[in-house]
Amino acid sequence: TIQNPMRIEIPRECERIGSLQIYGLQKVYELDGGEGMHGQDSVIERIPSEVLYDRMREMAIVVPVKNERLKLIEGVLVGIPSPCQVIVVSNSPRGPVDRFKLEKEALENYGKFTSKKILVVHQKDPGLAKAFVHAGYTEIIDDNGLIRSGKAEGMIVGTLMAKWMGKKYLGFVDSDNYFPGAVLEYVYEYAAGFAMNQKSNTFVRISWHSKPKIMESSLFFAKWGRSSVNSNMMLNRLLTHLSGFETEIVKTGNAGEHALTVDLALKLEYAAGYAVETNHFINLLERYGGIVDSDDPESLQENITICQIESRNPHMHDSKGDDHVEDMIDASLSVIYHSDLCPELLKREIMENVQSRRGEESPDVIALVRKYPSLSELDLDTFLAGCDDALNFNAITVRA
Ligand code: GDP
Ligand code: CO
Repeated sequence: TIQNPMRIEIPRECERIGSLQIYGLQKVYELDGGEGMHGQDSVIERIPSEVLYDRMREMAIVVPVKNERLKLIEGVLVGIPSPCQVIVVSNSPRGPVDRFKLEKEALENYGKFTSKKILVVHQKDPGLAKAFVHAGYTEIIDDNGLIRSGKAEGMIVGTLMAKWMGKKYLGFVDSDNYFPGAVLEYVYEYAAGFAMNQKSNTFVRISWHSKPKIMESSLFFAKWGRSSVNSNMMLNRLLTHLSGFETEIVKTGNAGEHALTVDLALKLEYAAGYAVETNHFINLLERYGGIVDSDDPESLQENITICQIESRNPHMHDSKGDDHVEDMIDASLSVIYHSDLCPELLKREIMENVQSRRGEESPDVIALVRKYPSLSELDLDTFLAGCDDALNFNAITVRA
């Protein structure tokens, strides 16, 4: 018999823009669909565990870490299925308390109890910085000659580590997630997204079903946060402007939980800070939408699919306060505003949105965010050779 752990609906809607197709949100109906025939009913696809494991064996899961509690990090690792290669990219301080050393010890100890493959690197590793410099990608280097701080910068490091390890797929999971079961579900959904779209370069983005909050001393399961509402709305407005047909297909404009092929990850621009996910969406449209001139015309021959899956576990991460929600919204809107794709009409809508949220202190033009060029600008062979040297001495590999 065939085991069918996941039962997911096939996408109901699809928007096509150039060589990019954006599928509508897909619901998960069963996390484990039991035994039986595998395959597709009219609207539901059942994906056998063997197929998912095949994808996971070729997948790296990047876990960015900065000053998280060790118990949380361990919980996240508990949730990552064993076939995946875990890549922890830490930017925790080395002093006065060497948090990174504690993390390495905790992960090494955890590794004794499992057969999980774990690579742990530090974002401020001088050898890694040197590899970037030699490979001609100096934008990521700060005044001290080290890799800049930030989650986006950690993601760039993780992407290259996945390439270094010869992986085909790459997924991201934050290290501050309270529920190992949610992490497990994300990785299954990444694998399912790749399995359902084998003929194209795929980008899987997760939309949480809910996020628990305390309101008036009882639990409330919110569906949409303010920043996702705003970035989804403006991305949908952009698609509406481009096609002339109103659409609401985008539900994952700023999805932190996402996975993509390593090939695709090496082609995209990364924005710094909170704009990274929205910018991926914009950059896909710029590169593959056939609307503005692409620096790589061959890209229009490729097939790119954005697959949006709605996860079932509630999403709960360590709350670090919500004071920067406005900045997060502005950062997302900034990459839409400053794209060559953005028509004047939408620029006006974006500025009206900023004014309604910020009032008096609203700027005339939304500030630019820092962007890193695509990793295709980096000399990959030189970089990978640099990694061989750097990581032999400084990284820890619990198992590879
Ligand atoms: P939020 O979930 O968007 O509010 O942001 P968090 O502060 O939770 O950060 C998301 C993830 O990135 C967490 O796992 C952090 O530990 C991690 N992170 C934050 N800053 C950095 C950084 O500078 N470098 C790396 N490697 N990870 C970071
Ligand atoms: Co978080």
